[in-house]
Amino acid sequence: MAAMKILVTGGAGFIGSNFIQHIIQEHSNWDITNLDKLTYAGNLENLKDVEKEHRYHFAKGDITDRELIDRLLSPGFDAIVNFAAESHVDRSILDPSPFIETNIKGTQVLLEGVRKYQIPRYIQVSTDEVYGSIDNGSFTEKSPLSPNSPYATSKAAADLLCLAYWKTYRTPIVITRCTNNFGPYQFPEKLIPLATTNALEGKPIPVYGDGLNIRDWLYVVDHCRALDSVIQKGTLGQIYNIGSGNERTNLELIHKLLELLGKPKDLIQFVTDRPGHDRRYSLDVTKISTELRWKPTYSFEESLAATVKWYIKSENWWRRIKSGEYTKYYQKMYHQR
Ligand code: NAD
Ligand code: DAU
Repeated sequence: MAAMKILVTGGAGFIGSNFIQHIIQEHSNWDITNLDKLTYAGNLENLKDVEKEHRYHFAKGDITDRELIDRLLSPGFDAIVNFAAESHVDRSILDPSPFIETNIKGTQVLLEGVRKYQIPRYIQVSTDEVYGSIDNGSFTEKSPLSPNSPYATSKAAADLLCLAYWKTYRTPIVITRCTNNFGPYQFPEKLIPLATTNALEGKPIPVYGDGLNIRDWLYVVDHCRALDSVIQKGTLGQIYNIGSGNERTNLELIHKLLELLGKPKDLIQFVTDRPGHDRRYSLDVTKISTELRWKPTYSFEESLAATVKWYIKSENWWRRIKSGEYTKYYQKMYHQR
């Protein structure tokens, strides 16, 4: 495989840091620059295994900063992979503003940079949430966008900007839309790390509404493998759905986590539902599996068990997060419900 120089944005977050580790392991001649604002969700501890690699470079900065992007892009990259985003639905309900700034404006600033410096490939890491909720069947890449939360709407707007740049200027974009990820280094505001760490602390696990909302869960390394394929073989101007078909209700998932942890079911606490809560996400992944020959390789049961073990082993990592600023958000969130 030819050498590549890649700019990863948002690489200090959950999926971005797993992606950087994946690329460093899999491609000995790829060079990665990670641009991250280090918001509450960005954590350089996630990258301690790669920080000494001479092929890895870190720059602190904001994707909405036009001058910074201009300076950074001038030396030339072979590809940009944009993970940088405000990513938590509940936070977008409390305050949509940072979602509009980073997810929409930040994407447009990057697209302008790609256009100006003629970067050959820009990957927009998007989400299944842009399609909205589906009771039966699965969304294909041709399904209409129908986002419901401010988060999902900001991601849909960013997708449309990418498509507009492709149609208008032939800016070389590819969009990926993935289902719910889980694995190491996920910030403990999201369901799996929240439930796991609360259970380890003997604290209640908040279940929104009736707990019967369905998500399709993909191990983060399989998402990284899909993005790796898209960088190498994805067709420009196209959208690729990524998912596993591991659909579970939130209650089924939490019961499984409690079983793996050997903790009692009475930790489950039903709380007021998330406003506008999408009932079910489900994607048809025929396109990526036929065109790029990608399919998930990790079994759901085994990777969930490995993830739980990682949180047990990484207590220092999540305790530091849970004792900081995050606590204020958590209290505010449940105070308002
Ligand atoms: P995350 O919240 O864990 O990480 C986001 C990262 O982006 C952090 O390191 C943060 O510091 C950085 N960031 C935020 N604003 C920035 C800005 N203005 N400039 C530069 N950096 C900034 O998110 P995640 O769960 O790793 O998600 C990564 C991407 O994947 C997001 O675009 C998200 O929409 C998408 N996605 C996530 C999932 C999932 O299940 N987590 C599924 C599908 C798609
Ligand atoms: O589908 C992909 C999306 O998955 C990504 O685009 C988002 O960035 C990511 O945050 C995730 O969004 P969800 O809203 O699906 O994930 P979350 O972990 O917040 O919630 C999963 C489900 O669990 C959802 O139905 C809400 C519910 N939930 C969540 C939390 C945090 C609870 O019942 N209790 C909780 O405390």
